[in-house]
Amino acid sequence: MTEIKHPEYRLFGRSMDRPLKARQQRLMAELLPEISVDAETVTPLLKEETRPVWLEIGFGGGEHLAWQAKENPEVLMMGAEPFVNGVAKLMAAIDDGQLSNIRALHGDVRPLLEALPDQSLSRAFVLHPDPWPKKKHHKRRIVSQYLLAHMARLLKPGSELRIASDIPDYIRWTLMHIQRFNREAHEARGQDVFVWQAREKSHWHDRPADWPQTRYEAKAIREGRTPCYLKFIRS
Ligand SMILES: C[S@@+](CC[C@H](N)C(=O)[O-])C[C@H]1O[C@@H](n2cnc3c(N)ncnc32)[C@H](O)[C@@H]1O
Repeated sequence: MTEIKHPEYRLFGRSMDRPLKARQQRLMAELLPEISVDAETVTPLLKEETRPVWLEIGFGGGEHLAWQAKENPEVLMMGAEPFVNGVAKLMAAIDDGQLSNIRALHGDVRPLLEALPDQSLSRAFVLHPDPWPKKKHHKRRIVSQYLLAHMARLLKPGSELRIASDIPDYIRWTLMHIQRFNREAHEARGQDVFVWQAREKSHWHDRPADWPQTRYEAKAIREGRTPCYLKFIRS
């Protein structure tokens, strides 16, 4: 049986590095409360919402999230990130771009996942999740049966789950978890839940045009690693 409540241990590393600059402090104090969402406020918020809702888990510096919000004004972009410097960067991007279709959670995404209503998401992104390379830390990897159970519950049929990583072991891990989730779903309902869209190498090797580079990905490329872009359709 898949765990649908999250365990207590944390999945993320540091939640702050440098002190925030004055503008960032101001935006965290003034803008974040205006656009914040959490486990308690998400259901009433979505009751009023008519736009498709996309969720980015661990948005880092928020550059991908802000890009998607700008390019897709008809969508409500939601994101969660515990790293305060990342959230402050997103606030600056929202302010600079006058973006009005973003909701952000400064914190762990897991209580939000558990609070979101069934089939409330039209797309979800997990881009370059923390790799947790040591075997004893693998349980901290966000891609897990727990995450997939929520993605299966939350994503509308036909919608996309996008996962990227530049760590070959994390890609194998992701595909293995998808396969395991599908196998169990197959036994229960005779159908896969997540259908991987790749038919040839370019489909996972080449970054799609509507998938902008994140800071973490740019760093990975500079350091000689090759990102892999996975798209799954929720059946
Ligand atoms: C390696 S960074 C990648 C950031 C960004 N997606 C990028 O590609 O630049 C992984 C991010 O996931 C965030 N993260 C880890 N666990 C999380 C959780 N439980 N909820 C929300 N974000 C989480 C971390 O704080 C970190 O910023």
